[in-house]
Amino acid sequence: MSLAIALTKGRLEKKTIELLEQKGYGIESLKAKGRQLVFQDTKKDVKYFLVKANDCITYVEHGVADVGVVGKDTLMEGGKDYYELLDLGFGRCKFIVGGMEGKNPLEKTGHVKIGTKYPNVALDYFQRKGMDVEIIKIDGSVELSPVLGLCDGIVDIMETGATLKENGLVVYDEVADISARLIVNKAAFKTKREEVMQIIKDLERNEEDAE
Ligand code: PRP
Repeated sequence: MSLAIALTKGRLEKKTIELLEQKGYGIESLKAKGRQLVFQDTKKDVKYFLVKANDCITYVEHGVADVGVVGKDTLMEGGKDYYELLDLGFGRCKFIVGGMEGKNPLEKTGHVKIGTKYPNVALDYFQRKGMDVEIIKIDGSVELSPVLGLCDGIVDIMETGATLKENGLVVYDEVADISARLIVNKAAFKTKREEVMQIIKDLERNEEDAE
């Protein structure tokens, strides 16, 4: 049976394509893409489409994609009707709590304002700490929000740490480790079990893949 795979555009895209190629998938058209969004594998009975991270979960949850490749950050923020079956080992970064140097939001008493692209993750973190938190949703360049005084701190992803550093921010806590994950539609896990297990086997990391 044919397998439909939703791939996340952007940060994870290059590494996902590299991994598929390395594991013997025929992804020439994905590499040469212009504005095209759907691609047929040239070696296997697999179709790919490129979507934004949140949409990757949506397509998998609705069964339009049998399998998805998406970051753990997006999975932690929303969606739950899928099986997360594999840590693909790339796209490694961390969810952190950051703030201006010398102004730790975790030590602030009373009402704390936190800027983030991930309101659910941030709310969950501060509520667990029993803090009186107000989450301010930011769509990008989150580091700017404490610099300009909109927030006392941020919850964001950090990869190299360069963006924090260059804007005078420091890490006050680490919330979770993040990497790319393989998710599977629940029905497809039954009806296309053989195909799903095959791609898991193909993409599973082994000794040679160690970073
Ligand atoms: C992410 C994140 C940080 C930055 C971290 O933003 O929100 O801003 O990358 O990376 P670093 O630790 O290597 O500096 P992204 O590049 O996705 O842009 P955006 O904030 O505009 O969404």
